[in-house]
Amino acid sequence: MKKYWWQDAIIYQIYVRSFNDSNADGIGDIPGIIEKIAYLKSLHVNTLWISPHYDSPMDDNGYDVRDFFKVAEEYGTLEDFKSLIKVAHDHDMKIITDLVLNHTSDEHPWFIAAKDPAHPDHKKYHDYYIWHTGFKNDAGEPERPTRWISWFGGSVWDYNSPTESYYLHIFSKKMPDLNWRNKAMREELKSMIQWWVDLGIDGFRIDASNHLEKNWEFPDDEPGYQHFSSLPKHHDYLQELADELFIPNNLLIIGEAGGASKQEALQYAGFESNEFNMLIHFGHVWVDVDDSNRLTPGKWAKGEVHLSRIKSALKHWIDIFHEKGWNTLYWHNHDHPRVVSHYGNDAPEHRVASAKMLATLLYGLPGTPIIYQGEEIGMTNVDYTELSDFKDVEVFTEYDNFMRHGASHEVAMQALRDRARDNARSPMQWTNEPFAGFSTVSPWMPVVQNYSTINVQAAQKDDHSILAWYQMLMQWRKDEAIGFSYPTFYQLDRDDRFAYSLKGQSHAYYIVGNFTDQPLDWDADVDLESMRLFASNTQTSEDALAPYETRIYQSL
Ligand code: NOJ
Repeated sequence: MKKYWWQDAIIYQIYVRSFNDSNADGIGDIPGIIEKIAYLKSLHVNTLWISPHYDSPMDDNGYDVRDFFKVAEEYGTLEDFKSLIKVAHDHDMKIITDLVLNHTSDEHPWFIAAKDPAHPDHKKYHDYYIWHTGFKNDAGEPERPTRWISWFGGSVWDYNSPTESYYLHIFSKKMPDLNWRNKAMREELKSMIQWWVDLGIDGFRIDASNHLEKNWEFPDDEPGYQHFSSLPKHHDYLQELADELFIPNNLLIIGEAGGASKQEALQYAGFESNEFNMLIHFGHVWVDVDDSNRLTPGKWAKGEVHLSRIKSALKHWIDIFHEKGWNTLYWHNHDHPRVVSHYGNDAPEHRVASAKMLATLLYGLPGTPIIYQGEEIGMTNVDYTELSDFKDVEVFTEYDNFMRHGASHEVAMQALRDRARDNARSPMQWTNEPFAGFSTVSPWMPVVQNYSTINVQAAQKDDHSILAWYQMLMQWRKDEAIGFSYPTFYQLDRDDRFAYSLKGQSHAYYIVGNFTDQPLDWDADVDLESMRLFASNTQTSEDALAPYETRIYQSL
């Protein structure tokens, strides 16, 4: 049944900056990760995904790489990173890191040379990036080549006077896009990848992988996403990396590519293909967008959550990869709200039950789990009241947009508290000590005040904690090889509850959950006579499911 080691892996994503500060500077670091390896082991985690650890001016918390060969000073040294690899391997854990290939920092030496005609290496590096002279208006002033909008809001073009041209950046203006048509540039990136592999890295998560190719005709359009997303030629680049590096080095490759079609998903990560081993697609992540909201539009527009949409999205991806590839199971990563606040209920009386219910809905399905730090203790969205509490570069361009659309400050702040990426980036809550035990000094971004009750230490002391539930679920997945199962029954309709059945290695299971804050009468979809209750997150009564109750029944 098992072909690859990662098919029964349990992956845990670490956002370094917010995970654990070992040297009292308010910023998480690599030694801080090493301190928590035993904790991660207790969660049955055997693979760590480390978000960018490279030297960076941190405009986008490390996704803006200044030096691919250096560890960010505030995170530690290369020696620390080597120790992390060693300690992880000694504990039978693999390490995968983020690989940011679509862009660099504007402080990367390549871009410094590229933007400056007087630089001795200008000629070589200019073409590593994407330039356009733009147009002149009637007054003879430069005008942007197109109206394309960056993923962080605002134009993708910024003017560089010394070259009298615009450079392209589909994220922040401090993240110029690389020109993947340039072979010399690709060769340099490939040597860099091999360098990390030689250091002992077991794989990568490929950032923004579907954006590597652009439409070089630069047609005018707004927002123009189709001109820098999922263009056919980006597969050639990924294939080149796969052939030369990923496959020969036997790496685990997880690609980030939102919005892939079925055919494309299999091209990325089907068993017959080999660009990636797994795909992060975000199919179920934004199913509650209110398209009528004009003040805070797009992902910022919080609408009603329909469980049926979440279930369909999950099933869609299970079916795409069934027998043809491998599925990933995750609620969210560092770019999304916290799942208990987003799809569950973070009110004190419902938080624990709803977090366990959501975990059960997801982690009984086929594929490899990727748990995002803090999810396992039910960390919530932030409680920030000041705009300056937020730190994400995206927040500030988008806040300005909300104001332009006529939103009030309060409406804008609520949109941020509901949807901003910072919700997932507040410091990890370890204890009820000051700064949540994340640091002994004031952290780089504020701790959420509920840390006094929501923290790892409290969860470890409580047999009924969300953490204990995650430990149980992960153990169960391992014992029963749940990742290899395929639902024998899966209820798609109904917004109030989910239900599915599966066959584990030694038993059959029926799983059900109440997605609402009300008791729910129910009839089992299978004959429970031949089953016993294996796990429940609340005190169960025979015929009603308590608010957010979830149950797992096991065949006798
Ligand atoms: C996707 C990453 O997950 C996100 O955090 C980052 O801002 C962009 N790619 C740009 O690297």
